[in-house]
Amino acid sequence: MKLYIETVGCQMNVLDSELVVGSLRRQGYELTYEAEAADVILFNTCSVRQHAEDKIYSALGRLRQHKRQNPSKIIGVLGCMAQKDQELIRRRAPHVDIVCGTGQLARLAELIGQVRDTGRPQVALSLDRTESRHEVERSFESYDPLRDPSMRPDPFQAYVRIMIGCDKFCTYCIVPSVRGPEQSRHPEQIAAEVRQLAAEGCKEIMLLGQTVNSYKYDLGDGRRVRLSDLLEKIHATPGIERIKFVTNFPKDMTDDLLQAVRDLPKVCRYLHVPVQSGCDDVLTRMKRLYTVAFYRDMLDRCRETVPGVAISSDFIVGFSGETEASFAKSCDLVREAGFKNSFIFKYSPRPGTRGYELYADDVPEEVKKRRNNDLLAIQTKVSLADHRRLIGERVEVLVEGPSKNALKHGSSGPGQLTGRTRTDHIVVFDGNSRLVGQTVMIDIHEASPFTLYGSVVTGEQVGVDHCEMAEEREPELSAGPRRIGLPLV
Ligand code: 5AD
Ligand code: SF4
Repeated sequence: MKLYIETVGCQMNVLDSELVVGSLRRQGYELTYEAEAADVILFNTCSVRQHAEDKIYSALGRLRQHKRQNPSKIIGVLGCMAQKDQELIRRRAPHVDIVCGTGQLARLAELIGQVRDTGRPQVALSLDRTESRHEVERSFESYDPLRDPSMRPDPFQAYVRIMIGCDKFCTYCIVPSVRGPEQSRHPEQIAAEVRQLAAEGCKEIMLLGQTVNSYKYDLGDGRRVRLSDLLEKIHATPGIERIKFVTNFPKDMTDDLLQAVRDLPKVCRYLHVPVQSGCDDVLTRMKRLYTVAFYRDMLDRCRETVPGVAISSDFIVGFSGETEASFAKSCDLVREAGFKNSFIFKYSPRPGTRGYELYADDVPEEVKKRRNNDLLAIQTKVSLADHRRLIGERVEVLVEGPSKNALKHGSSGPGQLTGRTRTDHIVVFDGNSRLVGQTVMIDIHEASPFTLYGSVVTGEQVGVDHCEMAEEREPELSAGPRRIGLPLV
């Protein structure tokens, strides 16, 4: 049996897909990269912006004829869109056999079997958030089956989910509805997963949560485990060299967490802390629960406590009621905050959110586009200036693979490689592909807004004690394809 899976959205989706593929492979499925060659065709979906949903409906539309000619093939829609829009999916794509929400992925294999046995479509969804909290929580299950190193793009890097859901209810955001209530995983379970990954040769762990720094687990004896405690626990795992965590909520950036980032050498000095807007009125309408002054203080606190920390952010432009004056405040913030990079999104109204009910989508599309470009241009300048400051520095890089350029030209053997520093900066350099998965020291010679360029320092031993703490920057990539190292929805 052949399996095809297409994934859109954040790292949480990338991880879910990895786990789905791993568990179906254990049942004998083989992965194919061609939808029409597969017996089971899955789409792991995202609902954060309309554009992501449109892409899935187009892909489903393209398969309509194929399904008609091959009725035994099974088509499944998984994840956020499935949880949000089961009726709409059935209307717009009646050839879909399985609709399976984010909290029900453990049932996927069973659903495939039921479609086969009965020939009837199957639906597995969690409760919506109007029911009692306890019931809703139980209906959203964290999906964390055994890991399979062969499923990861890089065996030396892995995502680890430490919590699911979100309770912040920012007014523009669909995540609390489609991913359910915030629930942290037991620290022992997380630590065991990290140990397993380390035993499989994994060096870099990225801890995932929608608001990862809100992580808390009550052990039941009066003791509460915070993210800082969890970092300390994971830090002790032999073999793990780097620990990152995304995405942070500004109000939960506590001192104990910053001190842990400062004191634990394996924890990367990189924080993704989305601000969303530089204007208090907009932040109030977004219900972000902080002011711009609070956010600026938080940035100062991060930099005072963790010297050399790199900070990145997300912005939404064109949110309801965003005037030119409010947008100008976002521009000021980007000019002054020194973000390593910012991901900038045009506001996309989401039915089912408070923002959709309360406020009109009153900023025209061309204005959103212009503001997006303008903010990006400012961030690119900031990033380039800061990148240039790194010329002449020596940085520690975990080599991830061939550079985009090398991939395009299909060269093998010695060629251009890419990797990241401990502050999550992308570095491109010449080297042998045997270096992939290794940590090397690189002298930086050149900088563009998006990339640092350098050369390998030969004969230098790299260990976790050798932390690169130079202050570095990397510019905005906008909403491009997301891989490890980029922020989470
Ligand atoms: N429209 C545009 N961007 C959004 N984001 C979340 N919801 C929306 C929306 N409705 C952005 C936020 C978040 C990032 C992952 O996606 O900036 O931090
Ligand atoms: Fe939660 Fe982040 Fe969405 Fe706000 S933007 S509701 S914090 S996932």
